[in-house]
Amino acid sequence: MSKILAISGSLRAESYNTALLRTMKTMAPSHWEVALVVPKAFPVYDEDLQKQGWPSPVTELAQSIREADGVVISTPEYNYSIPGGLKNVIDWLSRLPDPPFKGKQVGIMGVSAGRLGAIRGQLHLRQCFQFLESHVLSRPEVIVGNAAQAFENGTLNDSASVEAMRAFIAALDACIEAISTQVP
Ligand SMILES: Cc1cc2nc3c(=O)[nH]c(=O)nc-3n(C[C@H](O)[C@H](O)[C@H](O)COP(=O)(O)O)c2cc1C
Repeated sequence: MSKILAISGSLRAESYNTALLRTMKTMAPSHWEVALVVPKAFPVYDEDLQKQGWPSPVTELAQSIREADGVVISTPEYNYSIPGGLKNVIDWLSRLPDPPFKGKQVGIMGVSAGRLGAIRGQLHLRQCFQFLESHVLSRPEVIVGNAAQAFENGTLNDSASVEAMRAFIAALDACIEAISTQVP
């Protein structure tokens, strides 16, 4: 079994990005166990607060990431970049003494209301993972634009995007398999 942690970059209940992760779960191979997380209740990062003790949402998500074989993040872009809530989560996790994204296999995808599928936000997110020393899948990319047309009743209904998702899952699965069979 491969444990996949799917993290949404959008907190709203009707989020297209969360819906995209649900679609990934329905398309995943039978040996994937996909858990979906919408990371709410993270205080804004403040080093003074950190010194008082790690907030439980931080330590709990860190543990889930450590236990996962791969992490998939689907995010919108806000003002051409990473939504503040998601960036805040990453900032907290990055300060832990045993940062959970280090060496972790990560996949990034995104949905936007406009045409470009949050690609600018996705690129900024890739840049963060470079600093965090994660292994990020480069291609295939899942870039879902025009969300209102691409989804129907919360399900991805755009054939090109479904095909991209299929290829993404296969590529991520191969990366996870390659890491698990590596001789230390
Ligand atoms: C604060 C904010 C900033 C946004 N900035 C962008 C943007 O830069 N580019 C874009 O394509 N869409 C932008 N949007 C629109 C989002 O693509 C749209 O709200 C999308 O549905 C958000 O994803 P979600 O459905 O997963 O919540 C923005 C939305 C918000 C709330």
